[in-house]
Amino acid sequence: MPRNGEMTLGLYLVQTGYHESAWRDPSVPANGGVDVDHYGHLAELAEGAAFHFVFFADTLSVVERDNASLARAGRNDGFEPITLLSALSSRTRNIGLVATASTTYHQPYHLARMLASLDHLSRGRAAWNVVTSGFEAEAPNFGDKELPHHDKRYARAREFVDVVKGLWDSWEDGAFIRDKPSGIFVDTTKVHLLNHRGSFLSVRGPLNIARPPQGHPVLVQAGASDAGIAFASEVGEVVFTAEPCLENGKRYYTSLKDKAHALGREENQILIMPGIVPIVGRTKQEASEKLERLQSYSHIDVQIETAERWLGFVVDLRSVDLDSFVPEALPETNLIRSRQKVLLDLAARQKLTWRELIRLVSASKGHLMVVGTPDEIANAMVDAFDQRAADGFNVLPPTVPGGLKDFVELVVPELRRRAKFRAGYSGQTLRENLGLKRPLNRFIQTGASTGL
Ligand SMILES: Cc1cc2nc3c(=O)[nH]c(=O)nc-3n(C[C@H](O)[C@H](O)[C@H](O)COP(=O)(O)O)c2cc1C
Repeated sequence: MPRNGEMTLGLYLVQTGYHESAWRDPSVPANGGVDVDHYGHLAELAEGAAFHFVFFADTLSVVERDNASLARAGRNDGFEPITLLSALSSRTRNIGLVATASTTYHQPYHLARMLASLDHLSRGRAAWNVVTSGFEAEAPNFGDKELPHHDKRYARAREFVDVVKGLWDSWEDGAFIRDKPSGIFVDTTKVHLLNHRGSFLSVRGPLNIARPPQGHPVLVQAGASDAGIAFASEVGEVVFTAEPCLENGKRYYTSLKDKAHALGREENQILIMPGIVPIVGRTKQEASEKLERLQSYSHIDVQIETAERWLGFVVDLRSVDLDSFVPEALPETNLIRSRQKVLLDLAARQKLTWRELIRLVSASKGHLMVVGTPDEIANAMVDAFDQRAADGFNVLPPTVPGGLKDFVELVVPELRRRAKFRAGYSGQTLRENLGLKRPLNRFIQTGASTGL
């Protein structure tokens, strides 16, 4: 699927836009975060353009650390992902629904059940973006002082995903026969106990819902440190990453696909989808003015706090000279390691001062940002696709709905003109639309015992 010449596209759903201060733009509904019609409209726009999925990120906390930035942050009134995507499942027919959920602070039984429900509700369009949590403010909401160590988070994530998949398999396809004449609802030769006892989790099973229509909802993974790449190569079917540099993107792409191949996985069963922030103008000048306008809404307190967070809270930007150059290295973070690396690489390549870097973080948070005409944006996407740095993109519009409309009306036709993006849906389920195989049931493969 990824290499039939057409790219995959996802829409990163966000309250008011990916730009940190999008909520202040006159075109944006400032209460978008808790308005289901707003999200319904965004999902319909994306579905109308044949996007493969909408993608909803998540954090289990308010992430700001002081009142000055909290007062101006436009993100702290948003929906819980599976709840919102359940509502969107009844407003859409074809588009995939990707929910982010952390393996550090959920229980696998709950999550397997909710995602199986979303897959049934949407008739096979659910996906799970597996994250391990990347913000320290989450820890005290779950009785912890700080996030567990990076390695430990990934170790739990591995076990967690295995348990969730096992629970989805606890009923074989067709186990619920619901035979009225005989009075038999369930074929007990098709149910399996998981009986999992591991280092972090203990789960008996079975799940109390039939195997999801897709067998397993699609597994998306976001986390690109060395540990994150290793994990993605094992479990990721779609990999969301941040990489603004084409050469680094090509290296990342090859390394991830090689690792997956070494584990016996087929290369075309992993789709690598970096983010792109498209600032679209009919002329370059118009695009630059749009970005400048958005930047003018950003307060320095918010910019500083946002940059500190994405660098992993290892530098106090109030104590540095903002007009000095960003250093080559910073102390290692326990938070999102890959993003710190991306931002330091970017600063080194473009010789950025702290002030320039923090402005850039407000706009793109380190993702590829292209400010230009539809032709220029399509060029950047096609280059990354053709040179194997990407199988597609998660599109992060700077504002919504305006920035999404610009992309759909101006960039999508340009991609189609170049035969790089499809005109409609080819299958019913998200797996079918992404060209991903439906997983076999692990218990059938092993001939495990049945019944309770
Ligand atoms: C592109 C990208 C998007 C991410 N989105 C989220 C998210 O929405 N919620 C979250 O808790 N963590 C998110 N993470 C971080 C992951 O939780 C990750 O498991 C962990 O923090 C460590 O990231 P690392 O492997 O890149 O160091 C994201 C990471 C990347 C690279």
